[in-house]
Formats: sequence, C-alpha cells, structure tokens
Amino acid sequence: MNKLSAVLIALLASVSLSAHADVITAQQAANDYGVFAKRLNPNSTLSADAGRAFYTKKVVVNGKDVSCSSCHTDNPANTGKHNVTGNPIKPMAPSVNPQRFSDINKSEKNFTNHCKDLYGKNCSPQDKGDFVTYLLTTK
Ligand code: HEC
Repeated sequence: MNKLSAVLIALLASVSLSAHADVITAQQAANDYGVFAKRLNPNSTLSADAGRAFYTKKVVVNGKDVSCSSCHTDNPANTGKHNVTGNPIKPMAPSVNPQRFSDINKSEKNFTNHCKDLYGKNCSPQDKGDFVTYLLTTK
C-alpha cells in the first residue's frame, strides 16, 4: 500500500459511518473523498459531471475499449454485467442499492482493483469523490 492510500484509509476510518446503510452514507463517503481531495488541492470541488465523464471514459485494455460503464452499465441504477464472465453486478446507484459505499474498506478495495485494471494505478480522491457524487444523482 502506498503512503497516500494509507493516509486516506486512516482518514476515512476515523469518520464514524452510520450503522444503517443508506443514501446518507454514500453522501458521507463522497464528502470524505471531497475533504481529502481538498487537502491535495484547496481549489477542489466535487462534480457530478466530472464523475459521469470519468464513469464513461474509455481506455484500451488488452486491445479492447473498457470503461467503468463496461461492467456497471451506462445507467448505474441498472444491474451491471461483468464484461468477461457475464455475471450480474448489483446496481451502483445508492438510490436503488443502499448498500453501496456503506463499507468504505470494500469501496476502497474495489476502487483500487478496478482503477488498476483500467489505468494501471489507483484513482485519486478527486476521481473517487466525483464518481460517488455522480452515482448519487442517478436513479
Ligand atoms: C470488469 C468489470 C468491472 C469494471 C470494468 C469495473 N468494475 Fe467496479 N465492480 C465490479 C464488480 C464485479 C464489483 C463487485 C461486486 C459488487 O460490489 O456488487 C464492483 C464493485 C465496485 C465498487 C464497490 C462499491 C461499493 O462500495 O459497494 C466500486 C467503488 C467500483 N466497482 C468502482 C469502479 C470504477 C471506478 C470503475 C472504473 C474505473 C469500475 N468499477 C469498473 C466490476 C467492474
């Protein structure tokens, strides 16, 4: 784990998350990423539009165009489908799947894995905050 992730996890772990998984919790996750993004760049603000662009941005992996939406589908409120195995993936939108972003360790692990798959490195707190902010607008 690099130093930045360690700091981020420590920061997020220090925030008491609601025992009930609900949209407020996903909002809290977005807020936490926002706080961290601001520490790295004081002018940072989270943007649903930037999150949408990030969600649909295509990169070439093993000769194929891939984006977050390749598995999580164009509408995050829909059930996703793994682009290789075809297995269903529960919707990403907290409005229809309140479990989303209720467990920050799980969220961080998935962010790290999927960002590495697509970009070869973890995504920034700004990207993650924008991503969750966008998901919060979908239904
Ligand atoms: C190859 C298919 C695939 C791609 C591409 C993909 N994901 Fe995922 N994603 C999954 C699967 C599978 C899960 C885990 C199953 C679940 O949580 O329902 C998941 C779950 C997640 C979670 C966990 C959310 C939570 O807290 O419950 C996050 C965050 C996530 N993905 C972010 C991303 C981002 C960001 C991208 C684009 C950079 C991306 N994913 C691209 C398949 C994918």
